[in-house]
Order: sequence, then C-alpha cells, then structure tokens
Amino acid sequence: MNYGILARYYDALVKDDEATLQWVNWIGRRGRTLLDCACGSGEITRQLAGLYEQTAGMDLSPDMIRAASAKDPENTVTWLAGDMTDLDSLGTWDVITCLCDSVNYLDRQGFIQWLDQVHDHLNDGGWLCFDMHSLDRLEEFDQGYVETGTFDDGTQVQWVIESEEDRLYQDFAFYLTDGTTLQEHHVQHVHDPAFVEEELKRRFDIASVTTDFDLPGLQPGEKYFYICRKKETA
Ligand SMILES: C[S@@+](CC[C@H](N)C(=O)[O-])C[C@H]1O[C@@H](n2cnc3c(N)ncnc32)[C@H](O)[C@@H]1O
Repeated sequence: MNYGILARYYDALVKDDEATLQWVNWIGRRGRTLLDCACGSGEITRQLAGLYEQTAGMDLSPDMIRAASAKDPENTVTWLAGDMTDLDSLGTWDVITCLCDSVNYLDRQGFIQWLDQVHDHLNDGGWLCFDMHSLDRLEEFDQGYVETGTFDDGTQVQWVIESEEDRLYQDFAFYLTDGTTLQEHHVQHVHDPAFVEEELKRRFDIASVTTDFDLPGLQPGEKYFYICRKKETA
C-alpha cells in the first residue's frame, strides 16, 4: 500500500513547521469539532486540535496513522484508518479538512464521491477547507524533477516527480544500509478548477478561493485553496 514505506520517512522528507503553521492559521477556529481527512503523519492535525474541542484524523494508510498516533501520547486527536470516500462510520462535524494535495489522490469519480460524503458528514453551516495542486504543476514537472538525500539512519532516498496529461507520478526509492531497496509509486490527479468549482457549487457556497494561501483567486502558483460552507437546510 502507498505510504506504507513512506510513513517511516515522511516527516524527515517533508515536515515543515512554518508551512504547518500557515495551514493552521488559514483554517483557524470555525466550530467545535474538526475531522482531518488524509491526515498523514498528523503534524497539522495535532496543531488544529489545540483550536477544537474534538478533533479526529483519518488516513488510508494504517502506517501513517500509527506514525501520527505515536506522536500524540495524550490522545489529543482520535486517529482512524479509513478511506475518505467513505465517512459513514464517522458522524458529523463542524469542519472537515483535507490538506497538502491529498485530494489529488482521488480521481474525478473519487473526488465527487468524497464531496458527497463531506456534504453528508458536515453539520449545517459547516466548513470544508482543502487545497489541491494547481494546473501549473503539470508544466512544472513535465521535464521531470529529481531530489536525492540521506536520512540520519544512512538510508538514501531518490524522489522523482513527472507529469503526463492530467496526472503527476511520484516515485520514491529508499536504499537501506543493508542493501535492500524499497519503492513506492504514487499517482495523483490534477483536477481542472472549473470542474472542481462546478462540483463544489452543487453542494456548497464557495467562501474563498486563493492560490498559495493568500493570493486572491486562481493565479500562477503551486496550490489552489478552497474554503466552502455547507448550505443551511430550511
Ligand atoms: C501528501 S500526504 C498529506 C498528509 C497530510 N494531510 C499532511 O498535510 O501532511 C497524502 C495522504 O493522503 C492519504 N490518502 C490518499 N488517499 C486517501 C484516501 N482515499 N483516503 C484517506 N487518505 C488517503 C495518504 O495515505 C497520505 O497520508
């Protein structure tokens, strides 16, 4: 499963305290309860738990959930393994988030299914906050991008990102000191914002669209950020 091997190295590879704070400030306090879909190793989720009375983080990868839970001995967050396209066992929430391009793991059908689930599992007037890759990412990676590094335990990593049509392919190779090589291959779907906004408007009021946190509207940049509100039922 994806993020099985990566879970061991995720924080060493991408943890960024400044960016975590930006996400937390962007979401802020919008109610009493928050569910973070695709919470990964839980860096942002744990910070958000300081703003909410009840916080849960869920992720498809049990290894990521184990890594998140291990960093939270006081259980400030309820950690759950599961697929965000099926939230049926999780009740309803004031705020649902999905951060750091996690929605790009869903294809169009999966994204629509997730929006339906989010709508069903938000309280009236509840908030959906998520970000996704911008269209610029396709051009950025069309010639391929390679990053290499070495972790404290001596494991070497190679991370390759390439784009093709509307997809990003991310290949991770970990070269362990005992000679073992472990690999993961990820596919992400870069969604057209016109499609995303049409689907959002069917279910929510769009309160804000920004690029890279605070640039107004859709602009050249890495990620588009959406804050949406579930319409009140009469
Ligand atoms: C780029 S990481 C982001 C993690 C976290 N949101 C963060 O900010 O660090 C993407 C995460 O999405 C999770 N994921 C992918 N597809 C999922 C799905 N269908 N349901 C729940 N989680 C999923 C992966 O397991 C991974 O932990």
